Amino acid sequence: MYRKPLLKIRPKSLNIGRSLFLLLAFSATAYAERMHLSAAGILDVTNGEMLRDRVIVVEDGRIKAVSARSEVDPADADRVYDYPDQFIVPGFIDAHVHLHSDPTVHGYRRLGKSLPQKTLTGAINARTTLRAGVTTVRQVGSPGYADIALRDAINAGQLPGPRILTAGMSISITGGHCGDDNLSPFEKYDAPESVADGPWAMRQRVRQNVKYGADVIKTCSTGGVLSKGTELGAAQGTVEELTAIVEEAASFGLKVASHAHGATGIKNALKAGVASIEHASFIDDEGIRMARRNGTALVMDIYVTEYILGKGESAGILPESLEKERRTGKTQRANFTKAHKAGARIVFGTDAGVFPHGDNMKQLSRMVQFGMTPAEAIRSATLHGAELLGLAGEVGEITAGAYADLVILDDNPLDQISTTESPVAVFKEGRLVE
Ligand code: ARG
Repeated sequence: MYRKPLLKIRPKSLNIGRSLFLLLAFSATAYAERMHLSAAGILDVTNGEMLRDRVIVVEDGRIKAVSARSEVDPADADRVYDYPDQFIVPGFIDAHVHLHSDPTVHGYRRLGKSLPQKTLTGAINARTTLRAGVTTVRQVGSPGYADIALRDAINAGQLPGPRILTAGMSISITGGHCGDDNLSPFEKYDAPESVADGPWAMRQRVRQNVKYGADVIKTCSTGGVLSKGTELGAAQGTVEELTAIVEEAASFGLKVASHAHGATGIKNALKAGVASIEHASFIDDEGIRMARRNGTALVMDIYVTEYILGKGESAGILPESLEKERRTGKTQRANFTKAHKAGARIVFGTDAGVFPHGDNMKQLSRMVQFGMTPAEAIRSATLHGAELLGLAGEVGEITAGAYADLVILDDNPLDQISTTESPVAVFKEGRLVE
């Protein structure tokens, strides 16, 4: 998957004068660290165009300019990376991951995993995700605030990983898909902290997530594939409850993501005003219209079905879940095509964690297979993800002002989308990921 970068680094010839100056002025002067990056092509995601003969000028982790090669002097940079045969695209954004989940631990196996174990799993997966070229993720549901600790450790530079926007614990009705997994019998049962019924209890769960540091709120408005005893078509939570979640989140400036497979639960969440519908498998025409009108993102995880049906049984996925998946994957893909044609906003999100982290970008080729152009698929995983995450202009594009989150690819992804699955190198905030 991740190869050692074929770097042609031409470190700037040692500039003694400058180094000496730096040494002397280190504590007094704010010094901007500069990097130049060039390649056979640099992707302008907005226009879906490969720019030639340009250099990305990076200063202190942010893109300062994308300049014509003739206007840039390599002597002005502290580090110069040139990839004459490769292509540079913005770091990818996966709007639906579960970093603390292990794809070999499904069904009843999950009961055997402790919170400390899941926390370590998260740290390992964060690194794997970043190395796959995913430089920003939205984590939609985690155990016991392990996600908050992970995000903070990454932001503090203590652990390698993508930039994380995270939901804390998903808010679930009793017996719901979002955390009340129905695996334990009554006498062994301990209600997870994320379970609530009724608008005020839902609001309390939102407040609790905010209190512990959530960036976004996740709930479920239908049953799911992987939860025991829930129905995909059955709505979870009333419009009143969902509205309470959305209002309460909004009062803290947070958006809400709702897991929903069935058409009714999708529309309930759309009525409540969520920012994104996760999965959207059985969305109907009315749902597509509503999503379009409200500008609600559809985060359709159309790769994961291949893993569930291929490896799911050996990973411990329950027979009833496999049966539910057999009813879901194909329809979801058909509805992806339909929703995209109708002009709905589809944002790249994969449900990594159900399948191995690091395989996230395999979904891009499926998005092309089911109706997007390569440029549209890449926009879905960059520009549109940034917008959903409230990070427009900061990530997801190679333009002045954005973080220098960059992925180096062997082929032009506009011709060969699967090249996104095996990046040559990854930069996050101007730093080469080791
Ligand atoms: N976490 C989701 C659920 O349990 C996975 C659904 C995956 N299937 C699919 N076709 N997208 O409902």
